[in-house]
Amino acid sequence: MPQHKLAEPFEFKNKVTIPNRLVMAPMVARASEEDGYVSDDDLRYFALRSEVAGMIITGAAYVIDHGKGFGRQLSIAHSDNVPGLTRLSNAIKKDGAKAIVQLYHGGRESHPAAHQMGYGLGPSAMKFDWLPYDVKEMTLDQIDKTIAAFAAATRRAIDAGFDGVEVHGANHYLLQQFFSVYSNHRDDEWGGDLVRRMAFPLAVLDAVMEVAKDAGRPFIVGYRISPEEVHGDNVGYTMTDSLALIDAVANRGVDYVHVSLWEGFDGTPMDGDKPIGKMVKDTVAGRCPVIVVSNVFNQADAERALEYGDLVAIGRAALIDPKFGAKIVAGRGDEVETSVAGRVEELAYTEDLIEWFTGSGKDLLPPLKGLE
Ligand SMILES: Cc1cc2nc3c(=O)[nH]c(=O)nc-3n(C[C@H](O)[C@H](O)[C@H](O)COP(=O)(O)O)c2cc1C
Repeated sequence: MPQHKLAEPFEFKNKVTIPNRLVMAPMVARASEEDGYVSDDDLRYFALRSEVAGMIITGAAYVIDHGKGFGRQLSIAHSDNVPGLTRLSNAIKKDGAKAIVQLYHGGRESHPAAHQMGYGLGPSAMKFDWLPYDVKEMTLDQIDKTIAAFAAATRRAIDAGFDGVEVHGANHYLLQQFFSVYSNHRDDEWGGDLVRRMAFPLAVLDAVMEVAKDAGRPFIVGYRISPEEVHGDNVGYTMTDSLALIDAVANRGVDYVHVSLWEGFDGTPMDGDKPIGKMVKDTVAGRCPVIVVSNVFNQADAERALEYGDLVAIGRAALIDPKFGAKIVAGRGDEVETSVAGRVEELAYTEDLIEWFTGSGKDLLPPLKGLE
């Protein structure tokens, strides 16, 4: 297949250049040690994927122990995580890709943490059908310490040689829980009208950017958002609300906005037919690039996706073919693998990741072709 714009380098406003327009989407690899330290399994998984895209985002890394959401999840919560994280960033960067670590707090969805504490933490006290524990309202002190934990995690990412961080504001985790009227019933400075529901995600972003500014080198800060939270009659926020948050995020001077889509890169909001990627691009209006994601499995999909965003993230495609980007850049896009059938052994998945796709996460995760 001929070369395409996808294979061209992309320069961020801070002059950091990535070698092509593909991004590996953040995906928890279920590969770290049980207590969050980088393991050999992490290193194998990422070293194998060092040419999968021009920019590679790690799976969500928890910034403070009460935000741990998964077994074998990566931790960036402690200073002694830094040596392992340094090995990880080196494995990712070895062929020229930029390495980004995703900063995360699971909020009410922090299962391992909640099992330890006996309760989960969220913006407001609530019971949820699907959670086997109660959720307590975060105190003002816990909120302050969580914001400080995102800042400290950013410092660790700098020290560990990462090229940037992505603030995880998507997929129903803590930042999104604060933004949502469904889960945030506070009437203090952290909840209430739209402006106050934006306060926590923006405070986290401000704290992260403050540290990034003193990195001593250009350091990327991205923000990931789910474009709307609508589940039948339960409306946490609409596309209009999230465009207001995206506008505020872009005003902060972030290096990119990453829209977390699930039903295709060309997805549209519940109440409209304009593609979400295009709406977000119109809102940021050139202040920063927009990354779109979802259901890109081959070069033709990626080329089409580039019409909806400035950069294209691949999730499962990066799991299926660790050379996805390298093949496209080399003009061999027609050799991209689209199923893992018969190849699982060579793909550096842990048993836990396989079990997640085929067992405990089956209803939550999109299917991985060939693993069914
Ligand atoms: C195994 C797995 C783990 C994921 N973990 C994360 C994560 O840590 N952070 C995040 O923002 N999204 C996560 N996602 C969502 C992906 O980043 C991506 O948005 C989604 O898979 C859709 O892209 P795809 O169709 O290319 O797979 C995960 C998805 C999968 C399949």
